[in-house]
Amino acid sequence: MQFEPWQQWQKRDIDGCLVNRAKGLLPEMECTKQLVRLVGEVYKPGLRVLDAGCNAGHYLRGLRRLDKCLRYIGVDVNPNSIDLARTLFADDTHAHFEVRDINSGLFPEDPLDIVFCCNVLLHLPDPRKPLRNLLASCKQVCFVRTLLGEYTTISKRLMTHEFDAAGNPTDYYYQNTWQTDYFHTIARECGWRCELIPDEFDPGVLQKEYESIKEGKGTRTIGGLQADGPILYQWMWSKMVPA
Ligand SMILES: C[S@@+](CC[C@H](N)C(=O)[O-])C[C@H]1O[C@@H](n2cnc3c(N)ncnc32)[C@H](O)[C@@H]1O
Repeated sequence: MQFEPWQQWQKRDIDGCLVNRAKGLLPEMECTKQLVRLVGEVYKPGLRVLDAGCNAGHYLRGLRRLDKCLRYIGVDVNPNSIDLARTLFADDTHAHFEVRDINSGLFPEDPLDIVFCCNVLLHLPDPRKPLRNLLASCKQVCFVRTLLGEYTTISKRLMTHEFDAAGNPTDYYYQNTWQTDYFHTIARECGWRCELIPDEFDPGVLQKEYESIKEGKGTRTIGGLQADGPILYQWMWSKMVPA
């Protein structure tokens, strides 16, 4: 199958750290703690929750602290992630996993109460369709964690130094920051109200993981922000509710 240069998760192995977090062999991510707090503020028993770009399903472990019966659907574009998540959470009768692409649509015919999408949109070339699809599949509250800031900045981390005839790299990750107001205008045009929530994490934990678990190969911290090489991640949460 032919993939676009930026479609990293379709063409590379599943991230071993995320798999080990899903297995409970590594601690949960710092953003899991905040996600569980944010979902906990709006969750009531019986509500259905969608995790868009769920990978191997590691957030589910944290969400289970809120409710052992929380009705969870995890979707990911990568069939290997979904196969693995199904295996790891085979005993969880309230969890369900499906292959879906947030660029082509989720569950508009059967929207869920709470939708979240963490650490995915920065890696896509254009936020408009995925954000509209997330909102079209949400009834009450949608949380997005991504890079938002004063400017839109398109950034590519190259996986090769091969370039096509037009000078474009042939294999890279996007690490895009969207201007906050531009991002929120997309949601407002769909009839949603947006609240910006600062990201909270302990930089010490990330730095320690960089040195120990990731053996100097992952992201580290600079001045309290997560950094991937020279790129600083300005993480934010957007909480969206129907206007
Ligand atoms: C950086 S990982 C983040 C995983 C998880 N959400 C987290 O925060 O740890 C990006 C995930 O998004 C998934 N993904 C990328 N593009 C997607 C798409 N178009 N539709 C659904 N999932 C996608 C990838 O397969 C991968 O599991």
